[in-house]
Amino acid sequence: MLRLLFAVGSLAVAVNAIAVPTAAPSTAAIIDSSQVAVSIEFFAFPGYTELVSTGTCIANLEGLRGAPVAVRIGGTTQDRATYDPSLATPVSFTVASPTDAPTSLTFGPSFFTLAANDLSGNVTIGLNRQLDNQANTLSAAVQAKDSMHNLYAIELGNEPDLYASTSPIVPSTGWSQSADAASEKSWFTAIAPSVGNIFQAAVYISWRTAPTVPLLGTSISTVRSVSEHSYPQSACNGAATNLMTLMSHSDIVSYTAGFSADAASAHAAGVRYFFGETNSATCGGGGISPTFGAALWIVDYVLQGALNGVERLYFHQGTIGDCQYCWWGRFTTGAPFYGAYFVTEFLGTDGAKLEMLDNGKGAVAMYVLFNSAGAPIRLLVYNSNYYDGTGTRSSTSVSFTGGGIPTSGTTTALRLTGPNATSRVDEGGIVTIGGNVTFDGDCNAVGTSTRETVEVLEGALTVSVQASEALIVYL
Ligand SMILES: *[C@@H]1O[C@H](CO)[C@@H](O)[C@H](O)[C@H]1NC(C)=O
Ligand SMILES: *[C@@H]1O[C@H](CO)[C@@H](O)[C@H](O)[C@H]1NC(C)=O
Ligand SMILES: *[C@@H]1O[C@H](CO)[C@@H](O)[C@H](O)[C@H]1NC(C)=O
Repeated sequence: MLRLLFAVGSLAVAVNAIAVPTAAPSTAAIIDSSQVAVSIEFFAFPGYTELVSTGTCIANLEGLRGAPVAVRIGGTTQDRATYDPSLATPVSFTVASPTDAPTSLTFGPSFFTLAANDLSGNVTIGLNRQLDNQANTLSAAVQAKDSMHNLYAIELGNEPDLYASTSPIVPSTGWSQSADAASEKSWFTAIAPSVGNIFQAAVYISWRTAPTVPLLGTSISTVRSVSEHSYPQSACNGAATNLMTLMSHSDIVSYTAGFSADAASAHAAGVRYFFGETNSATCGGGGISPTFGAALWIVDYVLQGALNGVERLYFHQGTIGDCQYCWWGRFTTGAPFYGAYFVTEFLGTDGAKLEMLDNGKGAVAMYVLFNSAGAPIRLLVYNSNYYDGTGTRSSTSVSFTGGGIPTSGTTTALRLTGPNATSRVDEGGIVTIGGNVTFDGDCNAVGTSTRETVEVLEGALTVSVQASEALIVYL
Protein backbone atom coordinates (compact mmCIF):
# COMPACT_ATOMS: atom_id res chain seq x y z
CA MET A 1 0.00 0.00 0.00
CA LEU A 2 1.14 3.47 -0.88
CA ARG A 3 1.33 5.87 2.06
CA LEU A 4 0.53 9.48 1.31
CA LEU A 5 0.42 12.61 3.39
CA PHE A 6 -2.37 15.13 2.96
CA ALA A 7 -3.09 18.46 4.52
CA VAL A 8 -6.74 18.71 5.50
CA GLY A 9 -7.31 22.20 6.83
CA SER A 10 -4.56 22.67 9.39
CA LEU A 11 -4.57 18.98 10.19
CA ALA A 12 -2.10 16.64 8.48
CA VAL A 13 -3.63 13.19 8.05
CA ALA A 14 -1.78 10.11 6.85
CA VAL A 15 -3.97 8.08 4.55
CA ASN A 16 -3.49 4.64 3.12
CA ALA A 17 -4.37 4.66 -0.54
CA ILE A 18 -6.95 2.09 -1.57
CA ALA A 19 -5.88 -0.10 -4.48
CA VAL A 20 -8.58 -0.40 -7.14
CA PRO A 21 -8.48 -3.68 -9.06
CA THR A 22 -7.75 -3.30 -12.76
CA ALA A 23 -10.31 -6.00 -13.62
CA ALA A 24 -13.41 -7.36 -11.88
CA PRO A 25 -12.32 -10.10 -9.45
CA SER A 26 -14.22 -13.39 -9.44
CA THR A 27 -15.81 -12.35 -6.12
CA ALA A 28 -17.49 -9.28 -7.67
CA ALA A 29 -21.30 -9.33 -7.38
CA ILE A 30 -23.49 -9.19 -10.48
CA ILE A 31 -25.86 -6.20 -10.56
CA ASP A 32 -29.40 -6.73 -11.85
CA SER A 33 -30.80 -4.25 -14.38
CA SER A 34 -33.48 -3.49 -11.76
CA GLN A 35 -31.36 -3.81 -8.61
CA VAL A 36 -33.38 -0.85 -7.30
CA ALA A 37 -37.02 -1.92 -7.65
CA VAL A 38 -40.36 -0.70 -6.33
CA SER A 39 -43.12 -2.41 -4.31
CA ILE A 40 -46.58 -0.84 -4.19
CA GLU A 41 -49.21 -1.75 -1.59
CA PHE A 42 -51.94 -3.79 -3.28
CA PHE A 43 -55.05 -1.71 -2.53
CA ALA A 44 -53.18 1.57 -3.18
CA PHE A 45 -51.84 0.59 -6.63
CA PRO A 46 -54.70 2.16 -8.68
CA GLY A 47 -54.33 5.35 -6.60
CA TYR A 48 -50.59 5.41 -7.30
CA THR A 49 -51.27 5.29 -11.05
CA GLU A 50 -53.16 8.58 -10.63
CA LEU A 51 -50.15 10.36 -9.09
CA VAL A 52 -47.88 12.08 -11.64
CA SER A 53 -44.86 11.26 -9.44
CA THR A 54 -45.33 7.52 -9.85
CA GLY A 55 -44.52 7.80 -13.55
CA THR A 56 -41.77 10.41 -13.24
CA CYS A 57 -39.95 8.88 -10.26
CA ILE A 58 -39.87 5.47 -11.98
CA ALA A 59 -38.92 7.05 -15.33
CA ASN A 60 -36.04 8.89 -13.65
CA LEU A 61 -34.58 5.61 -12.40
CA GLU A 62 -35.19 3.91 -15.75
CA GLY A 63 -33.37 6.72 -17.55
CA LEU A 64 -30.31 6.43 -15.32
CA ARG A 65 -30.10 2.65 -15.54
CA GLY A 66 -31.29 2.35 -19.13
CA ALA A 67 -33.63 -0.47 -18.14
CA PRO A 68 -37.19 -0.79 -16.84
CA VAL A 69 -37.79 -0.81 -13.07
CA ALA A 70 -39.36 -4.01 -11.77
CA VAL A 71 -42.50 -3.42 -9.70
CA ARG A 72 -44.20 -5.74 -7.23
CA ILE A 73 -47.82 -5.02 -6.35
CA GLY A 74 -48.69 -6.60 -3.02
CA GLY A 75 -48.52 -6.34 0.73
CA THR A 76 -50.84 -6.91 3.67
CA THR A 77 -53.94 -5.95 1.67
CA GLN A 78 -53.32 -8.63 -1.02
CA ASP A 79 -54.44 -11.11 1.65
CA ARG A 80 -57.62 -9.11 2.27
CA ALA A 81 -58.57 -8.90 -1.42
CA THR A 82 -61.12 -10.94 -3.37
CA TYR A 83 -61.24 -10.97 -7.17
CA ASP A 84 -64.55 -9.92 -8.74
CA PRO A 85 -64.50 -10.55 -12.51
CA SER A 86 -67.51 -8.29 -13.02
CA LEU A 87 -66.16 -5.29 -11.06
CA ALA A 88 -65.91 -2.26 -13.40
CA THR A 89 -63.29 -0.41 -11.33
CA PRO A 90 -59.76 -1.66 -10.52
CA VAL A 91 -60.53 -1.81 -6.77
CA SER A 92 -63.52 -1.31 -4.50
CA PHE A 93 -63.41 -0.72 -0.75
CA THR A 94 -64.60 1.66 1.92
CA VAL A 95 -62.50 3.18 4.68
CA ALA A 96 -63.38 5.50 7.53
CA SER A 97 -60.51 7.88 6.77
CA PRO A 98 -58.68 8.40 3.44
CA THR A 99 -55.40 7.38 5.07
CA ASP A 100 -56.73 4.04 6.34
CA ALA A 101 -55.94 0.73 4.64
CA PRO A 102 -59.06 -1.34 3.99
CA THR A 103 -59.72 -4.47 6.04
CA SER A 104 -61.43 -6.01 3.04
CA LEU A 105 -61.58 -5.16 -0.68
CA THR A 106 -62.49 -6.47 -4.10
CA PHE A 107 -60.61 -5.94 -7.34
CA GLY A 108 -61.55 -6.39 -10.97
CA PRO A 109 -59.95 -7.18 -14.35
CA SER A 110 -58.99 -3.52 -14.92
CA PHE A 111 -56.56 -3.82 -11.98
CA PHE A 112 -54.40 -5.95 -14.27
CA THR A 113 -54.96 -3.75 -17.33
CA LEU A 114 -53.60 -0.81 -15.33
CA ALA A 115 -50.53 -2.85 -14.38
CA ALA A 116 -50.06 -3.86 -18.02
CA ASN A 117 -50.44 -0.33 -19.39
CA ASP A 118 -48.76 1.81 -16.74
CA LEU A 119 -45.64 -0.22 -15.89
CA SER A 120 -42.84 -1.00 -18.33
CA GLY A 121 -40.72 -3.39 -16.28
CA ASN A 122 -41.30 -6.85 -14.85
CA VAL A 123 -44.42 -6.88 -12.66
CA THR A 124 -45.00 -9.25 -9.77
CA ILE A 125 -48.57 -9.53 -8.52
CA GLY A 126 -49.38 -10.58 -4.97
CA LEU A 127 -52.60 -12.59 -4.63
CA ASN A 128 -54.53 -13.93 -1.65
CA ARG A 129 -53.87 -17.23 0.11
CA GLN A 130 -54.82 -16.26 3.64
CA LEU A 131 -58.57 -16.43 2.93
CA ASP A 132 -58.17 -19.98 1.56
CA ASN A 133 -60.28 -19.29 -1.55
CA GLN A 134 -58.12 -21.08 -4.11
CA ALA A 135 -60.74 -20.96 -6.89
CA ASN A 136 -60.94 -17.17 -6.57
CA THR A 137 -57.15 -16.74 -6.53
CA LEU A 138 -56.86 -19.07 -9.54
CA SER A 139 -59.33 -16.95 -11.55
CA ALA A 140 -57.41 -13.78 -10.64
CA ALA A 141 -54.09 -15.42 -11.61
CA VAL A 142 -55.50 -16.50 -14.98
CA GLN A 143 -56.80 -12.98 -15.63
CA ALA A 144 -53.38 -11.52 -14.73
CA LYS A 145 -51.66 -13.98 -17.06
CA ASP A 146 -54.08 -13.21 -19.90
CA SER A 147 -53.94 -9.42 -19.61
CA MET A 148 -50.35 -8.66 -18.58
CA HIS A 149 -47.57 -8.99 -21.17
CA ASN A 150 -45.23 -7.79 -18.39
CA LEU A 151 -46.24 -10.35 -15.75
CA TYR A 152 -43.08 -11.69 -14.13
CA ALA A 153 -44.29 -13.57 -11.07
CA ILE A 154 -47.28 -14.24 -8.84
CA GLU A 155 -47.13 -14.41 -5.06
CA LEU A 156 -49.66 -16.52 -3.21
CA GLY A 157 -49.97 -14.87 0.20
CA ASN A 158 -48.06 -12.09 1.94
CA GLU A 159 -46.01 -12.68 5.10
CA PRO A 160 -47.75 -15.97 5.96
CA ASP A 161 -45.50 -16.13 9.03
CA LEU A 162 -47.79 -13.45 10.50
CA TYR A 163 -51.10 -15.19 9.71
CA ALA A 164 -53.41 -15.29 12.72
CA SER A 165 -54.31 -18.75 13.99
CA THR A 166 -57.89 -17.89 12.98
CA SER A 167 -56.90 -17.32 9.33
CA PRO A 168 -59.00 -19.56 7.04
CA ILE A 169 -55.82 -21.06 5.49
CA VAL A 170 -54.53 -22.28 8.87
CA PRO A 171 -55.38 -25.99 9.30
CA SER A 172 -56.77 -27.41 12.52
CA THR A 173 -53.35 -28.92 13.15
CA GLY A 174 -51.95 -25.39 13.44
CA TRP A 175 -49.58 -23.12 11.50
CA SER A 176 -45.81 -23.39 11.24
CA GLN A 177 -43.16 -22.87 8.61
CA SER A 178 -43.53 -26.47 7.46
CA ALA A 179 -47.34 -26.15 7.35
CA ASP A 180 -46.91 -23.02 5.25
CA ALA A 181 -44.45 -24.74 2.91
CA ALA A 182 -46.90 -27.62 2.43
CA SER A 183 -49.65 -25.09 1.67
CA GLU A 184 -47.45 -23.18 -0.80
CA LYS A 185 -46.48 -26.43 -2.51
CA SER A 186 -50.09 -27.52 -2.88
CA TRP A 187 -51.22 -24.11 -4.22
CA PHE A 188 -48.29 -23.84 -6.66
CA THR A 189 -49.00 -27.35 -7.92
CA ALA A 190 -52.70 -26.59 -8.35
CA ILE A 191 -52.33 -23.21 -10.08
CA ALA A 192 -49.17 -23.64 -12.20
CA PRO A 193 -50.89 -25.63 -14.96
CA SER A 194 -53.10 -22.56 -15.66
CA VAL A 195 -50.47 -19.79 -15.49
CA GLY A 196 -47.04 -21.39 -15.86
CA ASN A 197 -44.10 -21.75 -13.51
CA ILE A 198 -44.01 -18.15 -12.37
CA PHE A 199 -44.41 -18.14 -8.60
CA GLN A 200 -42.59 -15.96 -6.13
CA ALA A 201 -42.24 -18.18 -3.06
CA ALA A 202 -41.92 -17.61 0.70
CA VAL A 203 -42.71 -13.86 0.98
CA TYR A 204 -41.65 -14.05 4.64
CA ILE A 205 -40.81 -11.27 7.03
CA SER A 206 -39.76 -13.20 10.15
CA TRP A 207 -39.10 -16.79 9.03
CA ARG A 208 -35.95 -17.43 7.05
CA THR A 209 -36.48 -18.59 3.49
CA ALA A 210 -33.67 -21.20 3.34
CA PRO A 211 -35.55 -23.94 5.30
CA THR A 212 -38.61 -23.56 3.03
CA VAL A 213 -36.76 -24.18 -0.25
CA PRO A 214 -36.22 -27.95 0.35
CA LEU A 215 -39.74 -28.26 1.84
CA LEU A 216 -41.22 -27.14 -1.50
CA GLY A 217 -39.94 -30.42 -2.99
CA THR A 218 -40.65 -30.86 -6.67
CA SER A 219 -42.86 -27.74 -6.70
CA ILE A 220 -39.65 -25.67 -6.74
CA SER A 221 -39.84 -26.16 -10.52
CA THR A 222 -42.91 -23.86 -10.51
CA VAL A 223 -40.98 -21.13 -8.68
CA ARG A 224 -39.27 -18.23 -10.40
CA SER A 225 -38.04 -16.33 -7.33
CA VAL A 226 -37.86 -16.45 -3.55
CA SER A 227 -38.91 -13.29 -1.69
CA GLU A 228 -37.91 -12.20 1.76
CA HIS A 229 -39.18 -8.98 3.33
CA SER A 230 -36.51 -6.87 4.96
CA TYR A 231 -36.96 -3.98 7.36
CA PRO A 232 -33.88 -3.18 9.48
CA GLN A 233 -36.02 -1.45 12.12
CA SER A 234 -39.56 -1.51 13.47
CA ALA A 235 -41.84 1.45 13.88
CA CYS A 236 -44.86 -0.65 14.88
CA ASN A 237 -46.88 0.53 17.88
CA GLY A 238 -44.62 3.52 18.36
CA ALA A 239 -41.39 1.47 18.63
CA ALA A 240 -38.25 3.60 18.86
CA THR A 241 -36.10 3.88 15.75
CA ASN A 242 -32.47 4.93 15.45
CA LEU A 243 -31.11 6.86 12.46
CA MET A 244 -27.44 6.54 13.43
CA THR A 245 -27.75 2.75 13.43
CA LEU A 246 -29.83 2.68 10.25
CA MET A 247 -27.23 4.55 8.22
CA SER A 248 -24.08 3.10 9.83
CA HIS A 249 -22.01 1.29 7.20
CA SER A 250 -20.80 -1.45 9.54
CA ASP A 251 -24.37 -2.07 10.73
CA ILE A 252 -25.64 -2.23 7.14
CA VAL A 253 -22.85 -4.69 6.29
CA SER A 254 -23.66 -7.03 9.18
CA TYR A 255 -27.44 -6.71 8.71
CA THR A 256 -27.42 -7.62 5.00
CA ALA A 257 -24.87 -10.41 5.54
CA GLY A 258 -27.62 -12.08 7.59
CA PHE A 259 -29.48 -12.80 4.33
CA SER A 260 -26.63 -14.35 2.33
CA ALA A 261 -27.46 -17.94 3.36
CA ASP A 262 -31.07 -17.44 2.23
CA ALA A 263 -29.87 -16.02 -1.10
CA ALA A 264 -27.45 -18.92 -1.52
CA SER A 265 -30.18 -21.50 -0.89
CA ALA A 266 -32.43 -19.94 -3.56
CA HIS A 267 -29.58 -19.77 -6.04
CA ALA A 268 -28.59 -23.38 -5.34
CA ALA A 269 -32.18 -24.35 -6.22
CA GLY A 270 -31.89 -22.43 -9.49
CA VAL A 271 -34.26 -19.59 -8.59
CA ARG A 272 -33.74 -15.90 -8.04
CA TYR A 273 -33.63 -14.20 -4.63
CA PHE A 274 -35.15 -10.80 -3.94
CA PHE A 275 -36.04 -8.51 -1.07
CA GLY A 276 -39.61 -8.56 -2.43
CA GLU A 277 -40.58 -5.81 -0.01
CA THR A 278 -38.22 -3.61 1.92
CA ASN A 279 -37.84 -0.24 3.55
CA SER A 280 -36.32 1.41 6.60
CA ALA A 281 -38.84 0.52 9.32
CA THR A 282 -41.99 -1.62 9.49
CA CYS A 283 -45.55 -0.31 9.84
CA GLY A 284 -45.15 2.45 7.27
CA GLY A 285 -41.92 3.78 8.72
CA GLY A 286 -40.91 5.94 11.66
CA GLY A 287 -39.39 9.37 12.18
CA ILE A 288 -36.11 8.17 10.68
CA SER A 289 -37.75 7.13 7.41
CA PRO A 290 -38.24 10.47 5.56
CA THR A 291 -34.76 11.78 6.41
CA PHE A 292 -31.63 12.44 4.39
CA GLY A 293 -29.95 9.77 6.54
CA ALA A 294 -32.45 7.26 5.13
CA ALA A 295 -31.40 8.37 1.62
CA LEU A 296 -27.79 7.55 2.52
CA TRP A 297 -28.95 4.23 4.01
CA ILE A 298 -30.54 3.33 0.66
CA VAL A 299 -27.26 3.94 -1.21
CA ASP A 300 -25.25 1.60 1.03
CA TYR A 301 -28.06 -0.94 1.57
CA VAL A 302 -28.68 -1.47 -2.15
CA LEU A 303 -24.98 -2.13 -2.73
CA GLN A 304 -24.63 -4.42 0.30
CA GLY A 305 -27.76 -6.27 -0.81
CA ALA A 306 -26.16 -6.94 -4.18
CA LEU A 307 -22.94 -8.15 -2.53
CA ASN A 308 -24.96 -10.64 -0.47
CA GLY A 309 -26.89 -12.15 -3.39
CA VAL A 310 -30.04 -10.01 -3.16
CA GLU A 311 -30.76 -9.55 -6.87
CA ARG A 312 -33.43 -6.88 -6.45
CA LEU A 313 -34.60 -4.70 -3.57
CA TYR A 314 -38.26 -3.70 -3.95
CA PHE A 315 -38.69 -0.54 -1.85
CA HIS A 316 -42.24 -0.46 -0.52
CA GLN A 317 -44.61 2.44 -1.13
CA GLY A 318 -47.57 2.11 1.23
CA THR A 319 -50.80 3.92 1.96
CA ILE A 320 -50.80 7.19 0.02
CA GLY A 321 -50.78 10.03 2.54
CA ASP A 322 -49.81 7.87 5.51
CA CYS A 323 -46.36 6.60 4.72
CA GLN A 324 -43.15 7.85 6.31
CA TYR A 325 -40.80 5.84 4.10
CA CYS A 326 -42.51 6.49 0.78
CA TRP A 327 -40.39 8.09 -1.94
CA TRP A 328 -43.35 10.10 -3.23
CA GLY A 329 -47.04 10.52 -2.50
CA ARG A 330 -49.08 13.41 -1.23
CA PHE A 331 -45.99 15.46 -0.39
CA THR A 332 -42.99 16.69 -2.33
CA THR A 333 -40.51 14.07 -3.50
CA GLY A 334 -39.00 12.79 -0.26
CA ALA A 335 -35.32 12.65 0.75
CA PRO A 336 -35.14 8.83 0.39
CA PHE A 337 -35.76 9.15 -3.37
CA TYR A 338 -32.53 11.14 -3.63
CA GLY A 339 -30.68 8.07 -2.34
CA ALA A 340 -32.43 5.77 -4.82
CA TYR A 341 -31.59 8.20 -7.63
CA PHE A 342 -27.97 8.58 -6.55
CA VAL A 343 -27.24 4.86 -6.26
CA THR A 344 -28.93 4.31 -9.64
CA GLU A 345 -26.73 7.07 -11.12
CA PHE A 346 -23.78 5.12 -9.71
CA LEU A 347 -24.95 1.85 -11.29
CA GLY A 348 -25.66 3.72 -14.53
CA THR A 349 -26.47 2.10 -17.85
CA ASP A 350 -23.16 0.22 -17.89
CA GLY A 351 -22.66 -1.07 -14.32
CA ALA A 352 -22.42 -4.87 -14.33
CA LYS A 353 -20.38 -5.96 -11.30
CA LEU A 354 -19.60 -4.57 -7.87
CA GLU A 355 -16.88 -5.02 -5.29
CA MET A 356 -16.46 -3.47 -1.83
CA LEU A 357 -13.04 -1.93 -1.19
CA ASP A 358 -13.25 -1.47 2.60
CA ASN A 359 -13.42 -4.21 5.25
CA GLY A 360 -17.01 -3.47 6.28
CA LYS A 361 -16.02 -2.67 9.86
CA GLY A 362 -15.54 1.08 9.68
CA ALA A 363 -17.75 4.07 9.02
CA VAL A 364 -16.53 4.78 5.50
CA ALA A 365 -17.79 2.60 2.66
CA MET A 366 -15.87 2.31 -0.61
CA TYR A 367 -17.04 0.51 -3.71
CA VAL A 368 -15.81 -0.04 -7.24
CA LEU A 369 -18.18 -0.73 -10.11
CA PHE A 370 -17.16 -2.64 -13.25
CA ASN A 371 -18.70 -2.70 -16.71
CA SER A 372 -19.58 -5.91 -18.53
CA ALA A 373 -16.03 -6.10 -19.90
CA GLY A 374 -14.77 -6.14 -16.30
CA ALA A 375 -13.15 -2.70 -16.43
CA PRO A 376 -13.50 -0.41 -13.38
CA ILE A 377 -15.76 2.54 -14.30
CA ARG A 378 -16.82 4.28 -11.08
CA LEU A 379 -16.04 4.48 -7.36
CA LEU A 380 -18.45 5.35 -4.58
CA VAL A 381 -17.46 6.64 -1.16
CA TYR A 382 -20.03 6.86 1.60
CA ASN A 383 -19.03 8.49 4.88
CA SER A 384 -21.60 7.10 7.32
CA ASN A 385 -20.29 9.05 10.31
CA TYR A 386 -23.43 10.53 11.82
CA TYR A 387 -23.84 14.28 11.57
CA ASP A 388 -27.11 15.47 13.05
CA GLY A 389 -26.44 19.19 12.74
CA THR A 390 -24.83 19.69 16.14
CA GLY A 391 -21.10 20.35 16.52
CA THR A 392 -18.59 20.42 13.68
CA ARG A 393 -19.12 18.28 10.61
CA SER A 394 -16.06 16.07 10.20
CA SER A 395 -14.62 15.09 6.86
CA THR A 396 -12.69 12.05 5.66
CA SER A 397 -10.14 11.96 2.86
CA VAL A 398 -9.79 8.79 0.83
CA SER A 399 -7.13 8.10 -1.80
CA PHE A 400 -7.36 5.55 -4.57
CA THR A 401 -4.65 4.16 -6.82
CA GLY A 402 -4.55 1.47 -9.45
CA GLY A 403 -7.24 0.27 -11.83
CA GLY A 404 -8.22 2.80 -14.41
CA ILE A 405 -6.69 5.77 -12.59
CA PRO A 406 -4.25 7.63 -14.82
CA THR A 407 -0.87 8.72 -13.46
CA SER A 408 -1.83 12.39 -13.67
CA GLY A 409 -4.60 14.68 -14.86
CA THR A 410 -8.12 15.00 -13.57
CA THR A 411 -11.29 13.04 -13.20
CA THR A 412 -14.76 14.04 -11.96
CA ALA A 413 -17.03 13.36 -9.00
CA LEU A 414 -20.70 13.84 -8.09
CA ARG A 415 -21.82 14.59 -4.53
CA LEU A 416 -25.01 13.72 -2.63
CA THR A 417 -25.30 16.03 0.33
CA GLY A 418 -27.75 17.66 2.70
CA PRO A 419 -27.69 19.93 5.73
CA ASN A 420 -27.54 16.99 8.16
CA ALA A 421 -28.72 13.39 8.51
CA THR A 422 -32.04 14.39 10.07
CA SER A 423 -32.94 16.84 7.27
CA ARG A 424 -36.28 16.22 5.59
CA VAL A 425 -37.09 17.56 2.14
CA ASP A 426 -40.79 17.63 3.06
CA GLU A 427 -39.86 19.98 5.92
CA GLY A 428 -37.72 22.34 3.83
CA GLY A 429 -34.33 20.63 4.11
CA ILE A 430 -32.41 21.02 0.86
CA VAL A 431 -30.76 17.80 -0.25
CA THR A 432 -28.78 18.11 -3.48
CA ILE A 433 -27.10 15.98 -6.09
CA GLY A 434 -24.21 17.57 -7.96
CA GLY A 435 -24.57 20.78 -5.94
CA ASN A 436 -27.81 21.96 -7.47
CA VAL A 437 -30.19 19.16 -8.48
CA THR A 438 -33.35 18.68 -6.42
CA PHE A 439 -36.74 17.14 -7.29
CA ASP A 440 -40.00 19.01 -7.50
CA GLY A 441 -43.33 17.73 -6.21
CA ASP A 442 -43.89 15.74 -9.40
CA CYS A 443 -40.45 14.10 -9.15
CA ASN A 444 -38.96 16.13 -12.00
CA ALA A 445 -35.25 16.84 -11.57
CA VAL A 446 -34.72 20.60 -11.22
CA GLY A 447 -31.39 22.41 -11.58
CA THR A 448 -28.03 21.64 -13.09
CA SER A 449 -25.88 18.83 -11.87
CA THR A 450 -22.20 19.77 -11.67
CA ARG A 451 -19.40 17.32 -11.38
CA GLU A 452 -16.48 18.33 -9.21
CA THR A 453 -12.97 18.07 -10.61
CA VAL A 454 -10.69 15.60 -8.86
CA GLU A 455 -6.97 15.88 -9.45
CA VAL A 456 -4.81 12.84 -9.91
CA LEU A 457 -1.34 13.21 -8.39
CA GLU A 458 1.33 10.57 -8.92
CA GLY A 459 -1.27 7.95 -9.80
CA ALA A 460 -3.50 8.64 -6.80
CA LEU A 461 -6.80 10.47 -6.65
CA THR A 462 -7.98 11.84 -3.34
CA VAL A 463 -11.50 12.85 -2.42
CA SER A 464 -12.92 14.39 0.70
CA VAL A 465 -16.33 13.32 1.94
CA GLN A 466 -18.08 14.90 4.89
CA ALA A 467 -19.83 12.98 7.65
CA SER A 468 -23.28 11.90 6.34
CA GLU A 469 -22.46 12.42 2.68
CA ALA A 470 -21.73 10.28 -0.39
CA LEU A 471 -19.66 10.79 -3.53
CA ILE A 472 -19.38 9.05 -6.90
CA VAL A 473 -16.03 9.21 -8.70
CA TYR A 474 -16.04 8.67 -12.47
CA LEU A 475 -12.93 6.81 -13.62
C1 LIG B 1 -38.35 -8.85 -17.42
O1 LIG B 1 -37.56 -7.79 -17.82
C2 LIG B 1 -36.53 -8.15 -18.69
C3 LIG B 1 -35.69 -6.92 -18.89
O2 LIG B 1 -36.46 -5.91 -19.44
C4 LIG B 1 -37.09 -8.67 -19.96
O3 LIG B 1 -36.05 -9.10 -20.81
C5 LIG B 1 -37.98 -9.80 -19.66
O4 LIG B 1 -38.62 -10.18 -20.85
C6 LIG B 1 -39.00 -9.42 -18.65
N1 LIG B 1 -39.71 -10.60 -18.29
C7 LIG B 1 -41.01 -10.63 -18.27
C8 LIG B 1 -41.60 -11.94 -17.91
O5 LIG B 1 -41.70 -9.68 -18.54
C1 LIG C 1 -30.63 19.77 10.45
O1 LIG C 1 -31.08 20.31 9.21
C2 LIG C 1 -32.37 20.88 9.23
C3 LIG C 1 -32.65 21.40 7.82
O2 LIG C 1 -32.90 20.34 6.98
C4 LIG C 1 -32.48 21.99 10.21
O3 LIG C 1 -33.81 22.45 10.26
C5 LIG C 1 -32.07 21.48 11.58
O4 LIG C 1 -32.05 22.55 12.47
C6 LIG C 1 -30.68 20.88 11.50
N1 LIG C 1 -30.33 20.32 12.81
C7 LIG C 1 -29.53 20.97 13.65
C8 LIG C 1 -29.34 20.33 14.98
O5 LIG C 1 -28.98 22.00 13.35
C1 LIG D 1 -29.55 25.95 -8.30
O1 LIG D 1 -29.05 27.03 -9.05
C2 LIG D 1 -30.01 28.07 -9.26
C3 LIG D 1 -29.38 29.10 -10.21
O2 LIG D 1 -28.15 29.55 -9.66
C4 LIG D 1 -30.40 28.68 -7.91
O3 LIG D 1 -31.38 29.66 -8.10
C5 LIG D 1 -30.95 27.58 -7.01
O4 LIG D 1 -31.18 28.09 -5.72
C6 LIG D 1 -29.96 26.42 -6.90
N1 LIG D 1 -30.60 25.32 -6.17
C7 LIG D 1 -30.00 24.68 -5.16
C8 LIG D 1 -30.78 23.59 -4.53
O5 LIG D 1 -28.88 24.97 -4.76
